[in-house]
This record gives sequence, structure tokens and C-alpha cells, in this order.
Amino acid sequence: MCGIVGYTGNNDACAFLITGLQRLEYRGYDSAGIATLSSDSPRIQTTKVAGRVAQLESALAAGTIRGRLGIGHTRWATHGAATEINAHPHSGGRSVLSLVHNGVIENYESLKTDLQAKGFEFVSQTDTEVIAHLVADHYAQLQAGGEPTVEHCVEAVQTAVSQLRGTYGLLVMFRDFPDLLIAARCGSPLVIGVGKGEQFVASDTSPLVGFADRIVYLADHQVAVIRPESIQVLHRDQGRVRPDVHVLSSDSVDVNMEGFNHFMLKEIYEQPQSIQNALRGRLDRDNATAKFGGLNLTPQQLRGVQRIVLTGCGTSWHSALVGEYLIEELARVPVEVEYASELRYRNPPTDHATIVFGITQSGETADTLAALREMKRKGHHTLAICNVIGSSIAQAADGGIYLHAGPEIGVASTKAFTSQLTVLTMLALYFGRLRHLSFEAGQRVIEQLERLPHLVEQALACHDQVKEIAAHYHTANNFLYLGRKFNFPTALEGALKLKEISYIHAEGYPAAEMKHGPIALVDEHTPSVFIVPQGTVYEKVLSNLQEVKARGGPVIAIVDHDDPQVARLADNVIRIPQVEDFLQPIVASIPLQLLSYEIALLRGCDVDKPRNLAKSVTVE
Ligand code: AGP
Repeated sequence: MCGIVGYTGNNDACAFLITGLQRLEYRGYDSAGIATLSSDSPRIQTTKVAGRVAQLESALAAGTIRGRLGIGHTRWATHGAATEINAHPHSGGRSVLSLVHNGVIENYESLKTDLQAKGFEFVSQTDTEVIAHLVADHYAQLQAGGEPTVEHCVEAVQTAVSQLRGTYGLLVMFRDFPDLLIAARCGSPLVIGVGKGEQFVASDTSPLVGFADRIVYLADHQVAVIRPESIQVLHRDQGRVRPDVHVLSSDSVDVNMEGFNHFMLKEIYEQPQSIQNALRGRLDRDNATAKFGGLNLTPQQLRGVQRIVLTGCGTSWHSALVGEYLIEELARVPVEVEYASELRYRNPPTDHATIVFGITQSGETADTLAALREMKRKGHHTLAICNVIGSSIAQAADGGIYLHAGPEIGVASTKAFTSQLTVLTMLALYFGRLRHLSFEAGQRVIEQLERLPHLVEQALACHDQVKEIAAHYHTANNFLYLGRKFNFPTALEGALKLKEISYIHAEGYPAAEMKHGPIALVDEHTPSVFIVPQGTVYEKVLSNLQEVKARGGPVIAIVDHDDPQVARLADNVIRIPQVEDFLQPIVASIPLQLLSYEIALLRGCDVDKPRNLAKSVTVE
């Protein structure tokens, strides 16, 4: 979703701002803008476009240094259409300040009415412009005709944010102070990159890579006063606090495509390695179990867990569904899977022996964060299964497990999904070994997990075949994805991948549910993708496949052995390596990811930045 960058120092601000915005493009956006200020100019210069960062770059006069202070933004429209006027930065007062904002202000209408009554004129439909004028209003009152000071700027921002209801990450620059940035955060992340004689600000760490190797995460209710030589952090309740400086993790460094045409393809191909990274140091062969450093619960406490709630959104919710099968099967602990957006407003009866896992790649998904906070408030131990180190959810949870998948830039989640499943398998093994799972059974799970990176590598060999299949079906308007047991969530995820990046309507179903309605959709133009590897439900899925074939529907089958029965029935057969059923979702997802990718390419879609979507969904 929206992205923020800022710079103050002795170099050209635009150089960092444009690079930073390019690196934030993966989050999804529809307009972009920057504002800069130079000490020899009395006014803030703003350039905005309803379009891509490349257009913004062309709109800036090439080679001109516009200032050594600046802020920039990529906007994903919430309040008001994706127009140049609604793009950020927004000016406050009579251009006394310029401001960028991530998040949503819920009480903006009433604040706007008050400001209009005071004579402020609004040009956009955004909630952000309200904040800009609100800060400007307080700033004017504090000066009361006297000389402006930095303290006035700080107090104006503090007073304004105290009136806001909702979420914000804000970055403000004032016309009177050509080296000052003020950042404020509540629910929407901001990170400061600490430099020598210069400072950088961004809404996640990716823009900071190569510019700063030390960072400060701003926490909720903090305001940072940032100048080239200093960073001062003030907390709403605690006053001035010491900035907590972290080293920028090398995990964040890998932000280029390394010869692949798209981040999504690169990330699909990274899966043998990302799965290996998720496993590293976590398999305990001697005890036939898994080990985790950050659950922050003793084995005794974990032994007492009676129920596990898994929550997340989108692909992470699909991981949770696989997790439910895994934990119930290997550990015999009851599991409930909840959409985070529903859980946050539900009031499910839960006891204190229930723990809650929030599953999230970005660690910034607003609904998952809110659901975890609500469950924590009720006294449950909350844990994050998360990829982004230091993200809001990682910080809010009582403990957790990092995926170590490296940055996932493509909007369609691929490697994070398979890493989530890898972690959930280890978690199921761990809980199982605390209960009834035998040493031998635990060892078998470990052996399977150790082979997994290699098997995923082998699964990638289907790519050329998948290209041919994509060429055949890319004009279809509807797809069905069908599987059972562990592969029901695999089917849901396959369908989501296709919808997201190719804009083809696709439905995932448990294969047996077909006859209760969706089979009415089957015709010669609607391909069905069946996930039909060997296992306890193989025969059942085969019957479902026959039902579709009998109605003239084209079938693409994913199998794990030379299967003459399926070969006779299906129009296309993709072979994946054989694994135990609980690991099939990981291996079977590889051809499904590649199929969506190839179909989207053939349809001319923007694979890494699909329309209307954002990488981190930081609004409700
Ligand atoms: C995945 O392909 C999607 N882009 C989306 O469903 C995503 O999984 C969802 O928004 C949750 O994101 P998170 O894992 O970062 O919380």
C-alpha cells in the first residue's frame, strides 16, 4: 500500500527520494509525488503524477538539484480517486508545510468541517489534507505572529495527532526550516535510516538499503524530530526517549531481479533456498522434533495448550488452513482458522489454554494486527509467523517465528506461502512431539522436511510444460481449482494466484463440493485444475475428476506418479515429486504458481504490480 520516503542532509534529496519510491513500488500504488525545499528558496516545490514513479521522474527537471530536504509518497487510493490532486504530498495552510501520510483517518470529516469553518480551503478529497491543515492551524496559533521555532513545529504535530482517530505514519516538512523533518506514527510503520550528516526515512526498510546501515523503528505514539546531525524521539506519554538503534538486516538487501524478468518469477525460483532458510537450525534430529527460539513459552506451558487459533488474510489465511490439517494430524490439538478481518470483530468464547498465531508475510496487515491485539487483550498468548523482521505484527506479538524467506517483492505471494507451510509443519511436529507423536514418526517428518528443498527444485522442472499449458488456456474466462484434504487449501491458493495477476475469475473448492453447485459452471470453456496425487483421498478425487470430464470440462491434472488412469482422463498432466500428503501443498503449489505467472504474461498483465492490489494491506 502507500509508501513514504524522506531525506534531510547535504546531498540532493531527489536522488534518494526517487530511488526509495522505486523500491516501494512493489507495495502497490496508483499515484506518486515528492516535495522538496532548498535553503535558498522561499517555497516548497511539489511535483505529483497520477501514475508511476517513472512518470514522476520524467516530470522532474533532469539534473536540477531541487533541495536537500524532501519527502515523497506512493499513494494507494482510499479517500478520493487516483488523481494528481489527491496524490501526496499535501500542503497545509498557505503552503507553510508539506506532508505525506500512510493510513486512514476515521474522523477526518468532522475535523474538515471545523477547519473549513476557520477558513481553510481544501483542494483534494483525501483525509490526508485534513492533517496538513490541522498541523498548519496549530503551527499558526503557536507562533501567534512571532518568530517560528522548531518547538512550534513539534508541538503543532503533537497536538494535531492527538486529535486524530485512525492510523497514520506521517512525515512533515516546514517551509521555515529547510533541514527539518518531523515523523509521527500510530499503526503505520516508519523507519529512520541513520546516516553521517544526513538522515533517511521510509515506511519500510527496502528504500534504506545501501543508504544507511543503522535504523530506528518508530513506535506507536512517537514523534521523531529529524535533522541532518540529530534524531530526537518523543513519546506521547513518556516524553523524550532514547532511540533504539538496530543494524539493518542483510535480509533486506536482496532487492533486485537478478536476471529474472519479474520479481514473482525470481521468488518462485528462490523457493528451494527460502524453504532451506526456514528449516535452518530448527530440526532437532536427536529428539525427533523441531526447535524455535522465540515462542516465549516453556514446554510445560505449550503442553498445556488446549486449542490453537490460526489467523491471517489472503494467502496467509490459506497457510492457516493447511496448518489446521497439519496440527490436527500430527499433534492432535484442536485448531480453528479465522479470517483476521472477522476475528477482530468476533467475540468467540475462548479459554486461557488457547494460543493464537497470526500468519503474515509483511507483518503489517491491518486486520491481522488488530485481530492479534484483540486476542492479546483477552489474555491469550499471541505469536506471529512472519517474514519481515521488526514489522508491526512481529513487535506486537508475544513471540513468534520468522520465515527468513528474504524480501518478497511480487504482490502475489509465492515463497512466503511455502515458507509459512514449512514453519507450520515444524510447529505441528513440535506440538506432536510434546504429546503423542512417537520418536520414529517424528524422525520420518524430519527426513521428509530435509528432502523438501531438493524436491521443490525438481518440481520447478515442470516450467516448460506449464508454459505450453498456459498457451493453450490463457484466453479462458473462468477456471476451477479442485483438491481434497491438504490440497483443498492448495486449490484455494492456486485460484487466488490466478485471479490476482491474470484477472481471470477462478474458484477453489474441495473437489467433492463440486456436485453441490459449482459443477453447473463446467463446460468446454472452463478448465479445471485437479490436484490429484497419491494418498488417502486419491480415489475420491479421481471420481470427482471423472464427473467433470463427463460434462466436457477440460482438465489439467497435477499428479505425483505415472498415473495411467489420470492420463486417460485429463487433457494435460503435470508430474510433481512424491512426498507425504502433509507436504503436498508445498510441492503442488509450484506448478500452480508457474501457471498463473505464464497465463498473466500471455494476457499482458503487470505480474509484479497487479491492478488494485497492494503488497502490504495496511488499511482495514
Ligand atoms: C497474496 O498473494 C496476496 N497478495 C494477499 O492475499 C496477502 O497474502 C494478504 O494480503 C496477506 O498479507 P500478509 O501475509 O502480508 O499479511
